Amino acid sequence: RDIYGAGRRNSHGVNLNIWSHYRPLTSAMDGFMDTQYHVKPLLAFEVDTLDAQRHEVLSPYDRRQVVGSVQWTTAEQAKQAVEAAWAAFPRWEATPVEERAQILERFADLMEANLAELMTLCSREGGKLLTDGVDEIREAVDFCRYYANRARELFAEPMALPGPTGESNQLIMGGKGVFACISPWNFPVAIFCGQMVAAAVSGNSVLAKPAEQTSLVAHRVVELLYEAGMPRDVVQLLPGDGPTVGSVLTSDARITGVAFTGGTDTAQLINRSLADREGAPLPTLIAETGGLNAMIVDSTALPEQVVADVIRSAFQSAGQRCSALRVLYLQEDIADRVIQILKGAMAELHVGDPRHLGTDVGPVIDDDARQGLQAHIERLKGENRLIAETELDPAKTAEGTFVAPTAFEIDGIDALEREQFGPILHIVRYRASDIEGVIESINAKQYGLTFGVHSRNESFAEAIAQKVRVGNVYVNRNIIGAVVGVQPFGGQGLSGTGPKAGGPHYLLRFATEKALTINT
Ligand code: NAD
Ligand code: ALA
Repeated sequence: RDIYGAGRRNSHGVNLNIWSHYRPLTSAMDGFMDTQYHVKPLLAFEVDTLDAQRHEVLSPYDRRQVVGSVQWTTAEQAKQAVEAAWAAFPRWEATPVEERAQILERFADLMEANLAELMTLCSREGGKLLTDGVDEIREAVDFCRYYANRARELFAEPMALPGPTGESNQLIMGGKGVFACISPWNFPVAIFCGQMVAAAVSGNSVLAKPAEQTSLVAHRVVELLYEAGMPRDVVQLLPGDGPTVGSVLTSDARITGVAFTGGTDTAQLINRSLADREGAPLPTLIAETGGLNAMIVDSTALPEQVVADVIRSAFQSAGQRCSALRVLYLQEDIADRVIQILKGAMAELHVGDPRHLGTDVGPVIDDDARQGLQAHIERLKGENRLIAETELDPAKTAEGTFVAPTAFEIDGIDALEREQFGPILHIVRYRASDIEGVIESINAKQYGLTFGVHSRNESFAEAIAQKVRVGNVYVNRNIIGAVVGVQPFGGQGLSGTGPKAGGPHYLLRFATEKALTINT
């Protein structure tokens, strides 16, 4: 297994192999296995310790293990934090871009230096496998370095524009004000950092609201950001529950923009909340949401390669990636062969403790998630649609929130009302003559995040890739793990507003443009 990405670099020369020997890493991780974290909001002002607001954090792989506790932000503190963020904004916007970019680079270095602790927290608090923890920190580091460089290119100097003799024209870029950055638990470092550093390096103050389930790692990350030189009033951390802290922020007329990643329903609530604000300036909303991601496999595809890519796309990270494969379309001539190999591969998956190198699939995030997924599984089992289910070993899974990787046959994507955020794969057989109808039904769902095609017929693959309305298309490979600067990531329609994270245009949505004309 190439679990540590040995020797890989992305197209910017960023070293993807931020550790070369995994044994020292896992030994270093052992040193953080028993650390207890008791954290509170990191705000521009002193926060009293309030036991009443404290929430215990339990490990998803063993609910008997306490990782620590979090004091949630009160509505009053959130309002004061907005005040402090506005007070900091003019000074921060006037800070040279080079200085802002260097803070991001020092922060990236510090995350690498603290890799073992951050990975341990991702595992203990978020249930992440070692491989996923590696990907997570690597992506966060890539975001910092990529956005630091883009900020230099886009914002360091005003852009000179043409004009008639006697007139000078310039485009001057600035920050927008105060951004609320609201993130999900499934990428508690990468997405959390990506939003926060993009908003800050573009000249905005930031109120970072991590997901309830992963506040401890977010807290550690913000401590490192301060150590890198980020002023405490420019980035503040507001852990807490979404409907309370999130909605205080999104209904506050002083918030200029929201960078949100999470469920489509939550994005719609936020959109409404921003729109309903009396007397507020028109807001910026960047929303990256869920998907009903499909893959089409025609009869020319290589079944063994298809199965390897399907296993990775559907079950890596226990299917808890927005990019994960949910609906696999198999041309009927190849379907039985692919399903036969898939059943064998699913029987080989090891579900259990994410800290063990031999584990393929860890827990889902919490009991609410487990119950929701289990209800969907029971419903499809009741309809006799089960194809395969990986066996769970009670000795390894009884104390955690585990869901067995499961595959069902369904009639079409129409049978699914919403994203099931876990290790559940739906398979549809199609006839070659029905391919146009398949694409129409995928587009009609209006989700448009990731999509895969497996075919050795290049013109077929190209035609399909061109017709599907999605953000990221992958041909003859798995459909997860977009790399910063290489596969800018984000969807269309119900899956998101864009611009794409880790792409060349992302920072522009956090910035204002002022055209300055001087009659010389
Ligand atoms: P979620 O929508 O439940 O929560 C996301 C964040 O929103 C959390 O911080 C939460 O506290 C906050 N929140 C909840 N209610 C709020 C409200 N009323 N106002 C303001 N904020 C509120 O999502 P989740 O369960 O944390 O994450 C999983 C979802 O995220 C999945 O649907 C997944 O597809 C999506 N996701 C999308 C991407 C992408 O890039 N497109 C990436 C990762 C995850
Ligand atoms: N960017 C993440 C992926 O591509 C969500 O899997």
